[in-house]
Amino acid sequence: MSDTVRVSAHPLVRDKVTRLRDQTTGPKEFRDLVADLARLLFLEAAVDLKLAPVTVHTPLSPSAGHRVAERIGLFPILRAGLGMADAILQLVPDAQVWHLGLYRDHETLKPVTYYNKLPPKPAIDLAIVLDPMLATGGSALAVMDILKLRYIPRIKFLGLIAAPEGVRAIQAAFPDVPLHLAALDSHVNEVGYIVPGLGDAGDRQFSTW
Ligand code: PRP
Ligand code: URA
Repeated sequence: MSDTVRVSAHPLVRDKVTRLRDQTTGPKEFRDLVADLARLLFLEAAVDLKLAPVTVHTPLSPSAGHRVAERIGLFPILRAGLGMADAILQLVPDAQVWHLGLYRDHETLKPVTYYNKLPPKPAIDLAIVLDPMLATGGSALAVMDILKLRYIPRIKFLGLIAAPEGVRAIQAAFPDVPLHLAALDSHVNEVGYIVPGLGDAGDRQFSTW
């Protein structure tokens, strides 16, 4: 894997992704873990955010400081990316959130878009695509195609668990898009699930079985 693939080595990420996988983890804890992992990975993904100098006044004197100078857009892929967006918004409350509705057809595993209200040119400097699972890569690719058509200059992908198949698909089509991950697993099985993975990330968050 090339250096666009960043699998976090943070001990908290390793601990939390292990709990997330565990089949005995219930929906409340699962959602909390998704949120914690999203924030931890976002801190790593946002390390190169551009800053502008500003001066504020403390009660004692002027103080030179910084403000984030980039307009951030969060693009959660529905449904499973929703919990990630809410969590990251706590760190960057002014970020724009654009929802993209996609589901995988169970037969073909190809993504079907059912919701997209993106304007032709969103006013964004950095787009972060959010989805816990990168399996075949079809869903993330579909979103990145939509973003490229809208001339968004910088795109990053933030996911919890990826399979090599999905990583290779993104790297082939979007070699300059960094992938920030909590874990890189073995493979996608014959019905499209990541192994060992965690099962269905949407179902486990929203108790739909
Ligand atoms: C899951 C997941 C990704 C997609 C990944 O969504 O959240 O969006 O599958 O698979 P891929 O890399 O092979 O495209 P799903 O289609 O199950 O929709 P849901 O979130 O509505 O359950
Ligand atoms: N989507 C999921 O939710 N889990 C997988 O393992 C693959 C796709």
